[in-house]
Amino acid sequence: MALVTGSSSGLGLVIARTFLDAGYRVVIAGRDTSRLDAAKASLGHDPCVATACCDVTKQQGAEHAVQTATSQFNRLDVLVNCVGTSDRGLAENLTLERLDELIQQNVHTALLCSVAAIPQLEIREGVIINIGSLASKVGARYLGGYVTAKHALAGLTQQMRLELKPRGIHVGLVNPGPIRREDAGSRYQSRVEQDSNVPAAAAKPGGGTKIKGLPPETVATAVLQCVRYRRPDMVLPRYLRLLIAVGHISPRLGDWLLLKFTSSKA
Ligand SMILES: NC(=O)c1ccc[n+]([C@@H]2O[C@H](COP(=O)([O-])OP(=O)(O)OC[C@H]3O[C@@H](n4cnc5c(N)ncnc54)[C@H](OP(=O)(O)O)[C@@H]3O)[C@@H](O)[C@H]2O)c1
Repeated sequence: MALVTGSSSGLGLVIARTFLDAGYRVVIAGRDTSRLDAAKASLGHDPCVATACCDVTKQQGAEHAVQTATSQFNRLDVLVNCVGTSDRGLAENLTLERLDELIQQNVHTALLCSVAAIPQLEIREGVIINIGSLASKVGARYLGGYVTAKHALAGLTQQMRLELKPRGIHVGLVNPGPIRREDAGSRYQSRVEQDSNVPAAAAKPGGGTKIKGLPPETVATAVLQCVRYRRPDMVLPRYLRLLIAVGHISPRLGDWLLLKFTSSKA
Protein backbone atom coordinates (compact mmCIF):
# COMPACT_ATOMS: atom_id res chain seq x y z
CA MET A 1 0.00 0.00 0.00
CA ALA A 2 1.49 3.33 -1.08
CA LEU A 3 0.81 6.89 0.07
CA VAL A 4 1.83 9.48 -2.54
CA THR A 5 1.73 13.12 -1.45
CA GLY A 6 1.18 15.86 -4.03
CA SER A 7 -0.68 13.43 -6.27
CA SER A 8 -3.82 15.24 -7.39
CA SER A 9 -1.86 16.36 -10.49
CA GLY A 10 1.57 16.44 -12.11
CA LEU A 11 4.24 13.84 -11.41
CA GLY A 12 2.55 12.60 -8.20
CA LEU A 13 -0.55 11.52 -10.12
CA VAL A 14 1.58 9.59 -12.63
CA ILE A 15 3.44 7.92 -9.74
CA ALA A 16 0.10 6.95 -8.16
CA ARG A 17 -1.05 5.42 -11.48
CA THR A 18 2.22 3.50 -11.85
CA PHE A 19 1.91 2.02 -8.35
CA LEU A 20 -1.73 1.06 -8.98
CA ASP A 21 -0.74 -0.68 -12.21
CA ALA A 22 1.96 -2.51 -10.24
CA GLY A 23 -0.71 -3.89 -7.87
CA TYR A 24 -0.47 -1.44 -4.98
CA ARG A 25 -3.42 0.16 -3.29
CA VAL A 26 -2.86 3.89 -3.21
CA VAL A 27 -3.75 6.97 -1.16
CA ILE A 28 -3.47 10.18 -3.15
CA ALA A 29 -3.03 13.40 -1.18
CA GLY A 30 -3.47 17.08 -2.02
CA ARG A 31 -5.07 20.22 -0.58
CA ASP A 32 -8.15 20.48 -2.80
CA THR A 33 -11.08 18.05 -2.65
CA SER A 34 -12.34 18.67 -6.19
CA ARG A 35 -8.87 18.19 -7.69
CA LEU A 36 -8.47 14.99 -5.66
CA ASP A 37 -11.87 13.68 -6.80
CA ALA A 38 -10.99 14.39 -10.43
CA ALA A 39 -7.62 12.65 -9.97
CA LYS A 40 -9.29 9.65 -8.34
CA ALA A 41 -11.79 9.42 -11.22
CA SER A 42 -8.92 9.56 -13.72
CA LEU A 43 -7.29 6.57 -11.97
CA GLY A 44 -10.46 4.49 -12.32
CA HIS A 45 -9.58 1.82 -9.72
CA ASP A 46 -12.13 2.83 -7.10
CA PRO A 47 -11.70 0.25 -4.35
CA CYS A 48 -7.92 0.49 -4.55
CA VAL A 49 -7.71 4.30 -4.31
CA ALA A 50 -8.46 6.58 -1.36
CA THR A 51 -7.97 10.33 -1.07
CA ALA A 52 -6.55 12.44 1.75
CA CYS A 53 -7.32 16.14 1.63
CA CYS A 54 -4.61 17.83 3.68
CA ASP A 55 -1.81 20.37 3.68
CA VAL A 56 1.31 18.35 4.44
CA THR A 57 3.37 21.41 5.37
CA LYS A 58 1.46 21.03 8.67
CA GLN A 59 2.01 18.20 11.16
CA GLN A 60 -1.75 17.65 11.41
CA GLY A 61 -1.99 17.33 7.62
CA ALA A 62 0.86 14.84 7.44
CA GLU A 63 -0.69 12.77 10.25
CA HIS A 64 -4.05 12.85 8.45
CA ALA A 65 -2.46 11.49 5.25
CA VAL A 66 -0.88 8.57 7.13
CA GLN A 67 -4.06 7.90 9.13
CA THR A 68 -6.06 7.75 5.90
CA ALA A 69 -3.71 5.05 4.61
CA THR A 70 -4.00 2.95 7.77
CA SER A 71 -7.74 3.45 8.26
CA GLN A 72 -8.59 2.68 4.62
CA PHE A 73 -6.13 -0.14 3.94
CA ASN A 74 -4.87 -1.13 7.39
CA ARG A 75 -1.19 -0.88 6.39
CA LEU A 76 1.46 1.36 4.87
CA ASP A 77 4.36 -0.05 2.85
CA VAL A 78 5.56 2.93 0.82
CA LEU A 79 5.54 6.70 1.29
CA VAL A 80 6.40 8.84 -1.72
CA ASN A 81 7.03 12.47 -0.73
CA CYS A 82 6.30 14.23 -4.02
CA VAL A 83 5.12 17.67 -2.86
CA GLY A 84 7.59 20.28 -4.03
CA THR A 85 7.78 23.67 -5.70
CA SER A 86 10.41 25.11 -8.03
CA ASP A 87 11.41 28.76 -8.35
CA ARG A 88 13.07 31.33 -10.56
CA GLY A 89 15.33 34.31 -9.80
CA LEU A 90 18.85 35.24 -8.78
CA ALA A 91 20.07 33.97 -5.42
CA GLU A 92 21.07 37.54 -4.48
CA ASN A 93 17.43 38.63 -4.83
CA LEU A 94 15.97 35.70 -2.87
CA THR A 95 13.93 36.89 0.09
CA LEU A 96 13.89 34.92 3.32
CA GLU A 97 10.09 34.75 3.07
CA ARG A 98 10.32 33.04 -0.32
CA LEU A 99 13.07 30.72 0.89
CA ASP A 100 10.88 29.75 3.87
CA GLU A 101 8.01 28.88 1.51
CA LEU A 102 10.27 26.70 -0.63
CA ILE A 103 11.75 24.94 2.41
CA GLN A 104 8.25 24.31 3.72
CA GLN A 105 7.07 22.82 0.42
CA ASN A 106 10.19 20.80 -0.41
CA VAL A 107 11.57 19.84 3.01
CA HIS A 108 9.02 20.21 5.82
CA THR A 109 6.52 18.13 3.83
CA ALA A 110 8.95 15.21 3.49
CA LEU A 111 10.10 15.43 7.10
CA LEU A 112 6.59 15.65 8.60
CA CYS A 113 5.14 12.84 6.46
CA SER A 114 8.14 10.60 7.08
CA VAL A 115 8.00 11.09 10.84
CA ALA A 116 4.25 10.40 10.84
CA ALA A 117 4.76 7.26 8.73
CA ILE A 118 7.75 5.71 10.57
CA PRO A 119 5.73 3.62 13.07
CA GLN A 120 3.71 2.00 10.26
CA LEU A 121 6.67 1.60 7.92
CA GLU A 122 8.69 -0.05 10.67
CA ILE A 123 6.07 -2.79 10.99
CA ARG A 124 6.36 -3.65 7.29
CA GLU A 125 10.04 -2.82 6.67
CA GLY A 126 8.75 -0.18 4.30
CA VAL A 127 10.22 2.45 2.04
CA ILE A 128 10.24 6.24 1.88
CA ILE A 129 11.05 7.85 -1.47
CA ASN A 130 11.66 11.59 -1.63
CA ILE A 131 11.35 13.33 -4.98
CA GLY A 132 14.40 15.49 -5.41
CA SER A 133 15.65 17.07 -8.60
CA LEU A 134 18.91 17.69 -10.41
CA ALA A 135 18.80 20.77 -8.18
CA SER A 136 19.34 18.37 -5.24
CA LYS A 137 22.70 17.47 -6.74
CA VAL A 138 24.11 20.57 -8.45
CA GLY A 139 23.54 24.29 -8.42
CA ALA A 140 22.14 25.99 -11.52
CA ARG A 141 21.62 29.61 -12.43
CA TYR A 142 18.31 31.44 -12.03
CA LEU A 143 16.53 28.83 -9.89
CA GLY A 144 15.79 31.20 -7.01
CA GLY A 145 15.62 29.21 -3.74
CA TYR A 146 14.95 25.82 -5.35
CA VAL A 147 18.58 24.62 -5.27
CA THR A 148 18.88 25.44 -1.56
CA ALA A 149 15.62 23.70 -0.72
CA LYS A 150 16.32 20.56 -2.79
CA HIS A 151 19.89 20.27 -1.45
CA ALA A 152 18.41 20.33 2.06
CA LEU A 153 16.03 17.55 1.03
CA ALA A 154 18.98 15.49 -0.26
CA GLY A 155 20.80 15.89 3.07
CA LEU A 156 17.69 14.96 5.03
CA THR A 157 17.17 11.89 2.85
CA GLN A 158 20.67 10.53 3.39
CA GLN A 159 20.59 11.22 7.13
CA MET A 160 17.23 9.45 7.49
CA ARG A 161 18.45 6.51 5.35
CA LEU A 162 21.44 5.99 7.66
CA GLU A 163 19.37 6.39 10.82
CA LEU A 164 16.41 4.25 9.73
CA LYS A 165 18.33 1.38 8.11
CA PRO A 166 18.74 -0.54 11.41
CA ARG A 167 14.97 -0.29 11.84
CA GLY A 168 14.34 -1.90 8.45
CA ILE A 169 13.11 1.23 6.67
CA HIS A 170 14.73 2.24 3.38
CA VAL A 171 14.87 5.93 2.40
CA GLY A 172 15.66 6.85 -1.22
CA LEU A 173 15.94 9.95 -3.35
CA VAL A 174 14.87 10.16 -7.01
CA ASN A 175 16.38 13.12 -8.83
CA PRO A 176 14.75 13.90 -12.16
CA GLY A 177 15.81 16.55 -14.62
CA PRO A 178 13.08 18.64 -16.26
CA ILE A 179 9.86 16.68 -16.77
CA ARG A 180 7.64 17.05 -19.83
CA ARG A 181 4.30 18.75 -19.13
CA GLU A 182 1.85 20.93 -21.01
CA ASP A 183 2.55 24.11 -19.06
CA ALA A 184 6.36 23.75 -19.17
CA GLY A 185 7.82 27.13 -20.06
CA SER A 186 4.85 29.19 -18.83
CA ARG A 187 4.69 28.17 -15.13
CA TYR A 188 7.50 30.45 -14.03
CA GLN A 189 7.01 33.24 -16.58
CA SER A 190 5.79 35.78 -14.04
CA ARG A 191 8.68 35.11 -11.64
CA VAL A 192 11.18 35.60 -14.45
CA GLU A 193 9.50 38.84 -15.51
CA GLN A 194 9.85 40.20 -11.96
CA ASP A 195 13.65 40.28 -12.32
CA SER A 196 15.22 42.07 -15.28
CA ASN A 197 18.59 40.38 -14.58
CA VAL A 198 17.13 36.94 -15.26
CA PRO A 199 17.06 35.97 -18.96
CA ALA A 200 13.68 35.09 -20.48
CA ALA A 201 15.01 31.58 -21.27
CA ALA A 202 15.10 30.91 -17.51
CA ALA A 203 11.31 30.46 -17.62
CA LYS A 204 11.92 27.21 -19.49
CA PRO A 205 12.14 23.85 -17.67
CA GLY A 206 15.21 23.61 -15.44
CA GLY A 207 15.79 27.36 -15.76
CA GLY A 208 16.72 27.08 -19.45
CA THR A 209 18.81 23.92 -19.35
CA LYS A 210 19.57 22.10 -22.60
CA ILE A 211 18.46 18.77 -21.12
CA LYS A 212 15.51 17.15 -22.92
CA GLY A 213 12.29 16.88 -20.86
CA LEU A 214 11.64 13.44 -19.33
CA PRO A 215 8.30 11.65 -19.73
CA PRO A 216 6.75 11.58 -16.22
CA GLU A 217 6.12 7.83 -16.68
CA THR A 218 9.91 7.29 -16.85
CA VAL A 219 10.34 9.07 -13.53
CA ALA A 220 7.45 7.11 -11.97
CA THR A 221 9.00 3.81 -13.12
CA ALA A 222 12.28 4.88 -11.50
CA VAL A 223 10.42 5.52 -8.24
CA LEU A 224 8.96 2.00 -8.39
CA GLN A 225 12.43 0.54 -9.03
CA CYS A 226 13.82 2.54 -6.15
CA VAL A 227 11.21 0.88 -3.92
CA ARG A 228 11.64 -2.66 -5.32
CA TYR A 229 15.45 -2.70 -5.28
CA ARG A 230 15.85 -0.34 -2.32
CA ARG A 231 18.04 1.98 -4.36
CA PRO A 232 19.48 4.87 -2.35
CA ASP A 233 19.65 7.47 -5.08
CA MET A 234 18.69 7.74 -8.74
CA VAL A 235 19.43 10.49 -11.26
CA LEU A 236 17.43 10.86 -14.47
CA PRO A 237 18.54 10.97 -17.19
CA ARG A 238 21.24 8.58 -16.00
CA TYR A 239 24.09 10.10 -18.02
CA LEU A 240 23.93 13.19 -15.78
CA ARG A 241 25.49 11.14 -12.96
CA LEU A 242 28.73 11.73 -14.84
CA LEU A 243 28.25 15.51 -14.74
CA ILE A 244 27.60 15.31 -10.99
CA ALA A 245 30.63 13.07 -10.38
CA VAL A 246 32.90 15.36 -12.43
CA GLY A 247 31.73 18.34 -10.38
CA HIS A 248 32.68 16.52 -7.15
CA ILE A 249 36.12 15.57 -8.40
CA SER A 250 36.83 18.89 -10.13
CA PRO A 251 34.48 21.72 -9.10
CA ARG A 252 36.06 24.02 -11.71
CA LEU A 253 35.28 21.59 -14.55
CA GLY A 254 31.86 20.89 -13.05
CA ASP A 255 31.00 24.61 -13.10
CA TRP A 256 32.20 24.89 -16.69
CA LEU A 257 29.96 21.99 -17.73
CA LEU A 258 26.99 23.44 -15.85
CA LEU A 259 27.42 26.77 -17.61
CA LYS A 260 27.49 24.86 -20.91
CA PHE A 261 24.30 22.96 -20.02
CA THR A 262 22.36 26.13 -19.20
CA SER A 263 21.72 29.04 -21.47
CA SER A 264 21.97 32.70 -20.50
CA LYS A 265 20.50 33.88 -23.78
CA ALA A 266 16.92 35.26 -23.85
N1 LIG B 1 8.05 19.40 -12.97
C1 LIG B 1 9.34 19.18 -13.16
O1 LIG B 1 9.90 19.43 -14.26
C2 LIG B 1 10.17 18.59 -12.05
C3 LIG B 1 11.53 18.27 -12.29
C4 LIG B 1 12.28 17.71 -11.26
C5 LIG B 1 11.70 17.48 -10.03
N2 LIG B 1 10.38 17.81 -9.81
C6 LIG B 1 9.80 17.56 -8.50
O2 LIG B 1 8.71 16.68 -8.67
C7 LIG B 1 7.71 16.96 -7.67
C8 LIG B 1 6.37 17.19 -8.34
O3 LIG B 1 6.49 18.30 -9.21
P1 LIG B 1 5.28 18.72 -10.17
O4 LIG B 1 5.83 19.80 -11.04
O5 LIG B 1 4.67 17.51 -10.80
O6 LIG B 1 4.29 19.36 -9.11
P2 LIG B 1 2.87 20.07 -9.37
O7 LIG B 1 2.38 19.79 -10.75
O8 LIG B 1 3.02 21.49 -8.96
O9 LIG B 1 1.91 19.27 -8.39
C9 LIG B 1 1.94 19.53 -7.08
C10 LIG B 1 0.94 18.59 -6.40
O10 LIG B 1 1.15 18.72 -5.04
C11 LIG B 1 -0.06 19.13 -4.39
N3 LIG B 1 0.39 19.98 -3.28
C12 LIG B 1 1.09 21.13 -3.37
N4 LIG B 1 1.35 21.61 -2.14
C13 LIG B 1 0.82 20.72 -1.26
C14 LIG B 1 0.76 20.65 0.15
N5 LIG B 1 1.34 21.59 0.92
N6 LIG B 1 0.12 19.60 0.73
C15 LIG B 1 -0.46 18.64 -0.03
N7 LIG B 1 -0.43 18.65 -1.38
C16 LIG B 1 0.20 19.67 -1.98
C17 LIG B 1 -0.85 19.83 -5.50
O11 LIG B 1 -2.24 19.82 -5.29
P3 LIG B 1 -3.02 21.03 -4.54
O12 LIG B 1 -2.46 22.31 -5.09
O13 LIG B 1 -4.46 20.80 -4.88
O14 LIG B 1 -2.69 20.83 -3.09
C18 LIG B 1 -0.49 18.93 -6.68
O15 LIG B 1 -1.26 17.74 -6.64
C19 LIG B 1 8.23 18.15 -6.89
O16 LIG B 1 8.88 17.71 -5.72
C20 LIG B 1 9.23 18.79 -7.84
O17 LIG B 1 10.21 19.53 -7.16
C21 LIG B 1 9.61 18.35 -10.79
